[in-house]
Amino acid sequence: YTAFNGVDFEGTFHVNTVMDDDYAGFIFGYQDSSSFYVVMWKQMEQTYWQANPFRAVAEPGIQLKAVKSSTGPGEQLRNALWHTGDTASQVRLLWKDPRNVGWKDKTSYRWFLQHRPQVGYIRVRFYEGPELVADSNVVLDTTMRGGRLGVFCFSQENIIWANLRYRCNDTIPEDYETQRLQRA
Ligand SMILES: *[C@@H]1O[C@H](CO)[C@@H](O)[C@H](O)[C@H]1NC(C)=O
Repeated sequence: YTAFNGVDFEGTFHVNTVMDDDYAGFIFGYQDSSSFYVVMWKQMEQTYWQANPFRAVAEPGIQLKAVKSSTGPGEQLRNALWHTGDTASQVRLLWKDPRNVGWKDKTSYRWFLQHRPQVGYIRVRFYEGPELVADSNVVLDTTMRGGRLGVFCFSQENIIWANLRYRCNDTIPEDYETQRLQRA
C-alpha cells in the first residue's frame, strides 16, 4: 500500500509448472488500476483468443510498459496489456528485450529495478542465477511520478514470487547524466 518516490525494488519469480506459457512480472509506479508501470514476461508468442475489441499479439521477451488507460480495467485494457506494442489511450511499450526469448519453466529469475520518478529514470535487470540475462539500460519516462509496488500475472498459473525487497532511494544513478546528454 505504500506509495514510493525513488525506489529500488528486487524480487524473484519462478513458474512452478510446465503448464501454460503466459505472463508473469511485477508492477511499480502504481497510482490506480488505470495508471502504472508493468514489467511483464511471456514464454511464447501468442495471439489473444479474444479478437475483440482488437487483435492483440504477445511476443516472448521482457516488456516494460507504461499503462495510462482512458477506460480502466475492461476489454480494451486487457487486450492492450496482452499486446506487445503501443495501444492508443491505453499502453505505451517503453522497452522490449531484443533477445525476444521467453522464460523457462521451473526456473528462478531475479529482477532489480531502479525507479527515480523525480527525473523519470527507469532501469531493470534480470538475472538467471549469477548471469545477467536482460538489461533495459536507461529508460526515461515521466508518465507516473511514483506509486505503489506489486506483482503481475496474466493468465499464468503457479507463479511463485519470493524474496521481494524494496528500499527508498532518491540517489540518481550515474548513467542518468550520460544518457541525458546523449539525447540532448
Ligand atoms: C541508491 O541508488 C544508488 C544509485 O543507483 C546506488 O548507487 C546506491 O547503492 C543505492 N543505495 C542503496 C542503499 O542501495
